[in-house]
Amino acid sequence: MQIIRQIFILSIISILAQSNSVAQDKEWENNVIYNEKQVPFYELPDPLVTVEGKRVATVDDWEQIRRPQIMGMFASTIYGKVPQPEKEIEQEFELLDTDEKFLDGKCTRKRLLFNFSNHRGSVGMHMVVYLPNHVNGPVPVLLQISFSGADRGSIETDNIQSYGRLRNGIPLIHFLNQGFGVAYINGGEAVRDGNSFGGNTIHKLFYKGNQSLPRADEWGVIGGIAWQASRAMDYLETDNDVDHSKVALLGFSKLGKCALWAAAQDTRFAMALSQNSGCAGAALWRRSFGENLKYMFRFPHWLCGNARKYIGNEGDLPVDQHMLLACIAPRPVYVTSGLSDNWADPMGEYLSSHHATPVYELYGLKGQPTKERPRINEPAEDRALSYVIRSGGHGYFYKDWDRYIKFMKFHFNKK
Ligand code: GCU
Repeated sequence: MQIIRQIFILSIISILAQSNSVAQDKEWENNVIYNEKQVPFYELPDPLVTVEGKRVATVDDWEQIRRPQIMGMFASTIYGKVPQPEKEIEQEFELLDTDEKFLDGKCTRKRLLFNFSNHRGSVGMHMVVYLPNHVNGPVPVLLQISFSGADRGSIETDNIQSYGRLRNGIPLIHFLNQGFGVAYINGGEAVRDGNSFGGNTIHKLFYKGNQSLPRADEWGVIGGIAWQASRAMDYLETDNDVDHSKVALLGFSKLGKCALWAAAQDTRFAMALSQNSGCAGAALWRRSFGENLKYMFRFPHWLCGNARKYIGNEGDLPVDQHMLLACIAPRPVYVTSGLSDNWADPMGEYLSSHHATPVYELYGLKGQPTKERPRINEPAEDRALSYVIRSGGHGYFYKDWDRYIKFMKFHFNKK
C-alpha cells in the first residue's frame, strides 16, 4: 500500500512538473518579440566552398563533391543517419479500401496500411490518397505529412464548415479542381516521440545487439518521420494514377522540418513546401533567435545526439540550414513564414532562403537574391526558391493553400 501511495504521489508530481513545463513552453513561444539586435554576430559556412577550401563553380562539382559533403554533415551533426539494420526491413502495403465515389463522385479515395517488419518486430503506418476522377492519366500529388488523421482511416471532409475541405485543413476540392491529387500520412504514427521514444518506434527495427536508443550519430524523431515520407513515396511510385515525378512534399512546424530533410535526402520528391518550419527547418541556427538549439533539446530525441554538443556553440556547426535548402536544388522549395511566428524566426527563414540562392543560381534558377526580405503578403511563386512572409502566426491559413496550388501549377506545368 505504502509503495502504491508513493508511486501515486510521484506520478502526480511528475504530471505537475510536465504541465508546468508545457505552460512555460507556451509562454516562451508566444512571447518572443522580434528584435534583430538580439541576434549575435555570425558568419555562415559558404555552401559553395568545399571542406578542402575549393570554390565550387559548376553543377557537376556541386552534385559530385559539395552536396554529398553537406548531406553527410547534416546526417552526422543534425538529424542523424539512418543506420543499417541487422536484417533487412520488409515493407508491405495493403490497400484497405477504395471509394470511387468520394466527395459526390469527384474523387477516388484509397486507404492504405503499411507494415514494416524484421526479426525485431513490426510497425504500421496508414496513408490516404485522393485522386481526381475527372482527369485521365497520372496526376501530380500533394503529399502532406499530417499531425493526425490517416490512422483513423481518413479525415472525412468537413462539409458543414466548408465543402470539400478535409478536417486537417486541406481544401481537397481546390486541389482536385486543378487536377491534383492529395495524400497524407501521419508524421509520428511509426515514430514515437517523448518518453516512449526508443520503444515502439520504427527505430527499433534498426537497433543492433542490445541497443535500445539510437547512437549519437543516428537518426532521431525528425529523421524517422522523413523516412516515413520516403516510404509513402515508395507507394506513390507504384500507383499508376499518380505522376510520381510530380510529388510535392508538405509539412507544417515540426513536420515542416521533416519535409525539408526528407526532400533533401530523397530526390524523388519533386518539390518541398515548408510551412512555419522554424528551428531545425528553414531557420538559421547561428541567429539563435526565438527557438534555438538549446530549446530544441527540450524534445530530447528530435535531432541526433551529436547536435547537443553545439548548444551555445552554433558557430562551430559545419552546416547551417541555408545549406539544407540548397541541397534540395534544383527542385523548387517554397518557404512560408508567419509575421507573428517569432518563435520560428521568420527573418532567419528568409535569410536561409537568401543564402541558399547561389546554389539555385548555379542551375540558372531564381531564388531570393537580395538581403532585404520581401514585403508582407508579397509572394513570388515563379521562383524555384520562393519565400513568403504572410500575416498571421503559426498555422495553416486559407491563403497558404492557394499559394501552394499556384506554386505547384507554375512549376509542374512548366516541365
Ligand atoms: C514547438 C516547437 C517547434 C515545433 C512545434 C510543433 O513549438 O518548439 O519547433 O515546430 O512545437 O508543433 O511542431
